[in-house]
Amino acid sequence: MERTFIAIKPDGVQRGLIAEIISRFERKGYKLMAIKLVVPTKEFAQKHYHDLKERPFFDGLCDFLSSGPVLAMVWEGEGVIKYGRKLIGATDPQKSEPGTIRGDLAVVVGRNIIHGSDGPETAKDEIALWFEPSELVSYTSNAEKWIYGVN
Ligand code: GTP
Ligand code: MG
Repeated sequence: MERTFIAIKPDGVQRGLIAEIISRFERKGYKLMAIKLVVPTKEFAQKHYHDLKERPFFDGLCDFLSSGPVLAMVWEGEGVIKYGRKLIGATDPQKSEPGTIRGDLAVVVGRNIIHGSDGPETAKDEIALWFEPSELVSYTSNAEKWIYGVN
């Protein structure tokens, strides 16, 4: 089953939005496979955002991600990478639709509270960067037969 890396950034943690954000993924029907609270170093943040290193906001972005606790998670479910980003909404909260996490809970692009992997390769790399394989917990949830059906 598909997996994605989701992180609540320091602004989301400090604003007390952890439960609200987790609840949206949980209620959708996705399954939590790993979770931990960490303060990344700036070097780690640079690794996470390496694709953006030429962008003018890169340094500020890495300073920000390493400025406090980040809630790192792995979520599993059919289509979770793409649909997870739909739940998150557009990068710039000025453009995210109401009903999305950023649309409902954030105002500016530099403080958009949540990260989600943007494709299968990125998801694989980000999960490997943030988690040891032993930190991922595989289990069957009783809700699955109601979420996916059986046959
Ligand atoms: P992530 O899920 O955090 O990776 O966001 P994204 O995939 O929607 O956007 P992208 O990967 O392009 O950018 C990563 C992060 O850089 C964004 O979430 C923003 O916090 C920040 N960012 C992107 N564009 C801008 C910008 O124009 N200005 C500033 N200040 N920050 C930006
Ligand atoms: Mg991105």
